[in-house]
Amino acid sequence: MMTITAHPKTTLPEAASGKTMKRVVILGATSGIALEVQRQLAHEGRELLLVARSSERLAELQADLSVRGAQQVFTYAADLASVQQHASIFDFARRTFPDFDTVLLAYGSMHDQKESEMSVDVLLEELQVNFVSATALLTLFAADLERRRTGCLAAITSVAGDRGRRSNYVYGSTKGALSLFLQGLRSRLHPAGVRVITIKPGPVQTPMTDHLPNAARFADPQQVARDIVRALERRGPDVLYTPKIWRYVMAAVEHIPEGIFKRLPF
Ligand SMILES: NC(=O)c1ccc[n+]([C@@H]2O[C@H](COP(=O)([O-])OP(=O)(O)OC[C@H]3O[C@@H](n4cnc5c(N)ncnc54)[C@H](OP(=O)(O)O)[C@@H]3O)[C@@H](O)[C@H]2O)c1
Repeated sequence: MMTITAHPKTTLPEAASGKTMKRVVILGATSGIALEVQRQLAHEGRELLLVARSSERLAELQADLSVRGAQQVFTYAADLASVQQHASIFDFARRTFPDFDTVLLAYGSMHDQKESEMSVDVLLEELQVNFVSATALLTLFAADLERRRTGCLAAITSVAGDRGRRSNYVYGSTKGALSLFLQGLRSRLHPAGVRVITIKPGPVQTPMTDHLPNAARFADPQQVARDIVRALERRGPDVLYTPKIWRYVMAAVEHIPEGIFKRLPF
């Protein structure tokens, strides 16, 4: 069992008080959205620690991002959905990248809703990947940033988490639960000066969605990544809808009365 040690609070100088982004940990570095974020961060000369489950793809990313201008690129291969592997991921980050100031959790999965209606195993896997493992990992990194009283934790949830729809409420509920977790974590870490950012994209063109109808009309991942990088640079809101129009769309969707909403065919 992994326990989290409470450390006495330390006071750090202004330079380390979380106002700058230099060293970024990406959990789920092979995601289509993360790829674009990493390219933009590399272009700005940031230092990166990439975690994903394929060592081959990590090696390719390391070479590519170094050429694009990243100061340093460390990699660590692990299955992020496996809580048993979290201690080694976190230890690697602490040893190799001890002053990391920003963490972006970007991995996730979206099964076909029908599969999780037919199989409890599929349902539980979706919960494990998108919620159970994500909150376990965020808890480790949160304790470290809280102790150092610095930095920023960000995680990608989804607009799908704002309201349960008949066609994707399993995926949506994992993302809604993660958004709620982040909301509470934000309040907890606020006194320590640690920012917590909830990223809620609408549909984006990535491998997760390329089989869906109308995928060509989904948002450009470069645009979404620009919004995310602004938020990581502390120039965006705590809850980021991207593209921005989704903030207004979801505000309207949330106001549809349940009696009407349950009859909608999507
Ligand atoms: N695309 C959208 O329309 C959209 C909209 C809203 C929110 N999001 C969210 O944005 C995040 C990034 O998604 P994306 O669109 O960039 O998707 P993507 O390109 O399909 O990337 C998914 C990432 O999650 C990892 N992953 C998937 N299943 C996993 C598992 N069982 N165990 C461990 N890792 C797993 C993948 O690793 P491998 O490369 O090893 O497979 C990959 O790094 C996700 O949280 C997603 O839910 C996406």
